[in-house]
Amino acid sequence: MTDALGTTVVGREREVELLVSALECGAHVLLEGPPGTGKSTLLRSVAEGAHVPFVLVEGNAELTPGRLVGHFDPAQVLSQGYSPDVFVDGPLVEALRSGALLYVEEVNRVPEETLNVLLTVMSEAELNVPRLGRVHAADGFRLVAAMNPFDAVGTARISSALYDRSCRLTMGYQSAADESRIVALRAPEVDDAWRNRVVDLVRRTREHPDVRIGSSVRGTIDLVRLAVALSSRRGTSPTGWSTGLDAALVALSGRLRLQESCRRPPEEVVRELWVAVFGQEPAEGDADEGGGASGGA
Ligand SMILES: Nc1ncnc2c1ncn2[C@@H]1O[C@H](COP(=O)(O)OP(=O)(O)O)[C@@H](O)[C@H]1O
Ligand SMILES: [Mg+2]
Repeated sequence: MTDALGTTVVGREREVELLVSALECGAHVLLEGPPGTGKSTLLRSVAEGAHVPFVLVEGNAELTPGRLVGHFDPAQVLSQGYSPDVFVDGPLVEALRSGALLYVEEVNRVPEETLNVLLTVMSEAELNVPRLGRVHAADGFRLVAAMNPFDAVGTARISSALYDRSCRLTMGYQSAADESRIVALRAPEVDDAWRNRVVDLVRRTREHPDVRIGSSVRGTIDLVRLAVALSSRRGTSPTGWSTGLDAALVALSGRLRLQESCRRPPEEVVRELWVAVFGQEPAEGDADEGGGASGGA
């Protein structure tokens, strides 16, 4: 576990080493992996460890070149003209000037013109902004773009031009043990045995034949937090069979992407997996705590 000034990364030693080395040698990096595999966490921690500024941009269809680069404040332009003082830096110019790590999440979702601006900066290490002039990349500037390979939106569009200007690091799901440690960090209130079984259940969603894309560890974290909140409201134990199942239904059903051919609702898949991991509902209902189905039999 590396703890770089606050952001704790569980495991991922190899990815940290590869990412740090790629950035050190001056490369831009494409991080590719399903949601919740720790891409943002990893990058934040690396930026903190290297003491370089970190600028984050959410990639989406609204990220126009103007939003990425910055703009002249129209009211001030009226009184002062196109003076550099009147330019409001967007995240790209801010990152270029400060030599930051610019992190563009979901890069496959950004519009074509915006992608072209990024491509230019990657190859030229500078940007020409109309009426402002050239903005050079200060030492340390790097672009790290992230994308989810399962995302149907525009992943095919990610041109060979972007791949050709980046090193690519893929992030898969982590081991069960590491996922359990991640969940313990974010939702520490339950006992290890129960947490491990919930981690097992969520991992099974990724292999279930009816499921195209299962839940990430975010679902596991929500499930545990929800079970704790529910149990205090109900006066039951978070590890009680039906409290846990209710938490699982709410935390996971929206996160499962089912196969086109699947006619069942996602709740049914969650319930099936719950029974597979925790057994059938015990006769004494949620009074059961720890033993039988829930305690790590
Ligand atoms: N290796 C890890 N170490 C610590 N926390 C992690 C790790 N992987 C995922 N997480 C946690 O899981 C959640 C999703 O991680 P995040 O970095 O946002 O994923 P991504 O950017 O790939 O979608 C966050 O709450 C984060 O704290
Ligand atoms: Mg992210």
